[in-house]
Amino acid sequence: MEEIIVTGGVRLKGSVKISGAKNAALPILAATILTSEKSRIKNVPKLEDIRTIYKLFKRLGIMVEEDGDRDREVVIDPSTLNSSEAPYDLVKTMRASCLVLGPLIARLGRARVSFPGGCAIGARPIDLHLKGLKSLGAEIGLESGYINASAQRLKGTNICLDIPTVTGTENIMMAAVLAEGETIIENPACEPEVVSLSEALNSMGASISGAGTRIIKIKGVTELKGMDYSIIPDRVEAGTFMVAAAITQGDIKIEDCIPEHVDHIIARLRDAGMFIEEGEDWVRVKGGHKIRAVDIRTSPYPGFPTDMQAQMMALMSLSDGLSVITETIFENRFMHALELKRMGADITIDGHSAVIRGVPSLSGAQVMATDLRASASLILAGLSAKGDTIISRIYHIDRGYECIEKKLEGLGAKIKRVRG
Ligand code: UD1
Repeated sequence: MEEIIVTGGVRLKGSVKISGAKNAALPILAATILTSEKSRIKNVPKLEDIRTIYKLFKRLGIMVEEDGDRDREVVIDPSTLNSSEAPYDLVKTMRASCLVLGPLIARLGRARVSFPGGCAIGARPIDLHLKGLKSLGAEIGLESGYINASAQRLKGTNICLDIPTVTGTENIMMAAVLAEGETIIENPACEPEVVSLSEALNSMGASISGAGTRIIKIKGVTELKGMDYSIIPDRVEAGTFMVAAAITQGDIKIEDCIPEHVDHIIARLRDAGMFIEEGEDWVRVKGGHKIRAVDIRTSPYPGFPTDMQAQMMALMSLSDGLSVITETIFENRFMHALELKRMGADITIDGHSAVIRGVPSLSGAQVMATDLRASASLILAGLSAKGDTIISRIYHIDRGYECIEKKLEGLGAKIKRVRG
């Protein structure tokens, strides 16, 4: 198993280019199933989760042609789709595999998708996905760990989501685009990735309005064509590099990003005393001498993203006071706190909140990544710590960060990947 070793103490400086967003690429790739025509998707990040969806596509009989490194371009040919099953071994590796549920029902009238279990950050049910699909007329049963769904043609309807679930909104949108009549989704997720999916679907000939607002309207169409679409930049990767500048008192220009998508992160980092400039597609973060303690509460977009909570906890571990981080999205997303404590952080967990008393410095230690964003927080902590931090189980990081050690190395970090 590979490990990452970070030798802390270097102020990171320079510029870094942000890759395409994993959470936008996954639903958009799933959406290519909605037609039998080829789609060309650009700026697709090279990540483990993306490889997992390609593996799933191959099992479904869909052709995937990766087109060189330059534009991160991939051509998907779903004309050979010959299966409707997303098997256990792939869904268990990546929950987002269940994003094929909506498209498969819409295109084939049936889907058999392994029921995702719990995960490292909580129970994460998909009851709202299923409720939405049932409202659209799908028959849904659970048998031997699999969701069996079938429908003739789905019928548009009104769906009010109890919680603005991101992949739930996306699954329902993808099912509704080929339904008969109009579907209205109330209380949908407003994340940029949902807006991006709606743009991609509209470019295929769908008729969706209101994505990014509190009501999404979808007028069903009878068929869709292939798309030619470029994936938006990854706002969590951008936010992670912003924290890297802050935690190392560095100076990093984060290029090829959408500053509006990281508004909330910019605001909290300014509160923490960082100097931040913004351009059309870049953000420059300069770390100050002091990190001010700030409280953070995660919430659905446009609130502070749960996917940046662990990274901010690493930063707050070094603040000049006491900060409270409250996690409102997932029930068990503080596993990184225990590992940060191994590095000398002073963190007390109290239910959904973490109380962090800033310490003057962290010290390198052997730590274990427990999930994707937790691994990022440990790398960040390691960049500022005294001595070496050895992070195991780094396969988590490869699920969602493209070449993270190369990008950090380019900014001056002392970081290497070794066989453990
Ligand atoms: C997506 C993101 C993930 C991010 C999360 C929240 C992808 C591939 N993943 O995950 O990186 O951390 O949004 O921003 O885009 N819930 C239910 N029933 C459901 C669905 C969700 O109760 O049917 C609950 C979840 O347990 C959680 C909350 O709703 O407490 C939000 O989860 P959701 O938005 O669905 O997260 P994902 O779409 O899985």
